[in-house]
Amino acid sequence: MKKLMAANWKMYKTAEEAFDTAAELVALCGASLPDDREVLVIPPFTALGRAGQALAGNPRFLLGGQNFYPEEQGAFTGEISPAMLLDAGCAFALAGHSERRHVMGETDEMVGRKVAFGLEKGLSVILCVGERIEERRAGQVEDVLRVQLDKGLAGVPRDVDPVRLVVAYEPVWAIGTGEVAGPEEIVQAHGAVRRELLRLFGEAGHEVRVQYGGSVKPDNAAEIIHLDNVDGVLVGGASLRADSFSRIVLAD
Ligand code: 13P
Repeated sequence: MKKLMAANWKMYKTAEEAFDTAAELVALCGASLPDDREVLVIPPFTALGRAGQALAGNPRFLLGGQNFYPEEQGAFTGEISPAMLLDAGCAFALAGHSERRHVMGETDEMVGRKVAFGLEKGLSVILCVGERIEERRAGQVEDVLRVQLDKGLAGVPRDVDPVRLVVAYEPVWAIGTGEVAGPEEIVQAHGAVRRELLRLFGEAGHEVRVQYGGSVKPDNAAEIIHLDNVDGVLVGGASLRADSFSRIVLAD
């Protein structure tokens, strides 16, 4: 199973800035990328084209979209379809990032529609899950994850190709705060995610990659990616500069 090392650029970078960063990333780690890694760059929609040009010709550097709407096409002002992301060169897309859930108000049900529709239309989908600090303090981490996974995956066929489905565990309190979850917290949460994936998909649940996200930096990436059931990382702030993200991608 290849580790998926993903850069979520959120609402940062113009098209030219994205091109430059993506090109620098390929220059810094293209030749030395270990066989067991894939790199995924997730720029804003307006930068997909230029970022894709910088990654072209490097099969293990993939492009992803940050969000999409679960309809083919239509009167949905401001939204983008899976077909449009595929047309722009995306292989992957995020669904249910915590900023979509907690800033834009996306529900578990809407996230579930997105995951099922995106997979059906040919995207690989990263379902993001994670608890808020008050839920952690109340001892509800595993319950929150189970509900988000069950609702997020409710429409996914049980025989889905597990390589096209990824779960990102991103505790909300660790996103953009510099406060990274500790190794035991990560192992426990990822173990809970894995158990639920096995319950839902049988043995194929072993092949669904589970990423960690939340204040991943060059100096903590090596420890995190070697933890049990950690199959990659989803990085925000520390992915914005190629020198910093390349050290995460190559961390060992
Ligand atoms: P930070 O790495 O900035 O904490 O963001 C994590 C994240 O939200 C990635 O999707």
